[in-house]
Amino acid sequence: MNSLNQPLTLNNGVVLSDRVVMAPMTTKGANWDGVIDQNDTRYFTRRAGAAGLLITGATAVSELGEKFPYQQSLYDDHFIPGLAAEAKAMKAHGNKAVVQLYHAGVNAQVSFEKLHKVVGPSAVAFHQVAGAVTELTEDEVWQVVAQFGAAAKRALAAGFDGVEIHGAFGHLLQQFFSPYSNKRTDYWGGTLAKRMRFPLEVVKSVQAAVANKPDFIIGYRITSTEKHTDGAGYDIDETLQLIDQLAETGINYIHATEPDFNQQIKAQINGRTAFITIAHSTSVAEADAALANADLVAMARELIAEPDFADKLAHDQDVETAITSAQQASDLALPPRMVTWLIGPDGGGLVPAGKKYLVDIAK
Ligand SMILES: Cc1cc2nc3c(=O)[nH]c(=O)nc-3n(C[C@H](O)[C@H](O)[C@H](O)COP(=O)(O)O)c2cc1C
Repeated sequence: MNSLNQPLTLNNGVVLSDRVVMAPMTTKGANWDGVIDQNDTRYFTRRAGAAGLLITGATAVSELGEKFPYQQSLYDDHFIPGLAAEAKAMKAHGNKAVVQLYHAGVNAQVSFEKLHKVVGPSAVAFHQVAGAVTELTEDEVWQVVAQFGAAAKRALAAGFDGVEIHGAFGHLLQQFFSPYSNKRTDYWGGTLAKRMRFPLEVVKSVQAAVANKPDFIIGYRITSTEKHTDGAGYDIDETLQLIDQLAETGINYIHATEPDFNQQIKAQINGRTAFITIAHSTSVAEADAALANADLVAMARELIAEPDFADKLAHDQDVETAITSAQQASDLALPPRMVTWLIGPDGGGLVPAGKKYLVDIAK
C-alpha cells in the first residue's frame, strides 16, 4: 500500500482527494491569440482522472508575458469562456483545478514577435529574445502586480478552484528575485528583502483579488537555486528566506521544481502551508517515498502517457511510460502541436535521454 491515496486538507479547508498533483505543462493547445480551443479541453477531459489536483500550463497575465507559441492567456475578459470550458474539463471527476499565472518577462519570445517589445526588471541581456530588454518603470511594475490580481479574478470567474503563481524557471518573478537579472536600486531591488518584494506583492494582489472566496487555492511555484556561468544568481539560503515570507502570507501551497532541498524546505515551511515536490519518476514506490519530505507529489511527463493515474494508485500500479503508435497518441488526446514539441523533430530536450517516458511514434 502507498500513502499517495490519502486525502490532504489544505490550510484553507479545501480537501484534495489524493497526494498526486498533475504538474503544469504548456500544451500548445490554444490558438495563436491565446484563446483555448478544443485541443486543450480534450486533453484535460482525458486527464481528469490523473490526480487530485490538476494545474494548467503557464497562462499569460499580460500581452507582454508570452513565451511559448499557442500557450493560453487570461489578460482580458474575452479569454474567460475558453478557460471556463477548460476548468469544467479538468474538474470532471470532482478533483480540483488550478490555473498557473505567468509572465515570461525577458523570456517573452512570442510577445516580442507580436509586439516587438520585451520587458524585465533591468536591461540585462538574455539570449532567448533577439531584441533589447526594456526596464519596467516603478509604475509599470505595479501594473504587472495588478495584472496578476486581475487574472486571478478571471480564473475565479471561469470556475477554477485556484491559481498557482509561476515564480520558477527563470520567468518574471524569478527575474525580480535573482540578483543576476534584477539590478534595480528602487523599491523593487538592491537588497534581498527588496528583491523579494515583487513576488510578495504579486501574492498580495492575488489574495486581495479573490478575498471574497476564502477557499480559493493560491499556490506558488519556485526554483530553489539559480547559478549562471559567472557565478551570479541565488542559492538555497536566499530561497529559504523567500519561502519563509511566502509561508507567512497564508498561501495554500509552495511547489518546488526540483526535489534537491525537500528536507530543508519542509523544515522551513514548518506546517504553515502544504509543500509540493516533484518525483521525476514513473514508479509509485518512488513517488510515495517523496512524501517523506513533502505533502504532495507532482508529476508532469508521466501523466502525458498515463492519464488515469489516480485509478492505478489504488492498485500500486506504475505509470505507463511509452507512446508507441499514432493511434495511442490520438487516444491520449494530445494536442498535435504538443506531440510535435515532445517527440517530433523540434522536440529534443524535453524528454531526458534514457528516460523513455515517450517513444517516437514516427518509427
Ligand atoms: C511539455 C512540457 C511543458 C511544461 N510546461 C510547464 C509550464 O507551463 N509551467 C511550469 O511551471 N512547468 C512546466 N513544465 C515543467 C514540468 O511541470 C515539470 O517540472 C518537469 O517536466 C519535471 O517533472 P517530470 O519529471 O514529472 O516531467 C513543462 C514540462 C513539459 C514536459
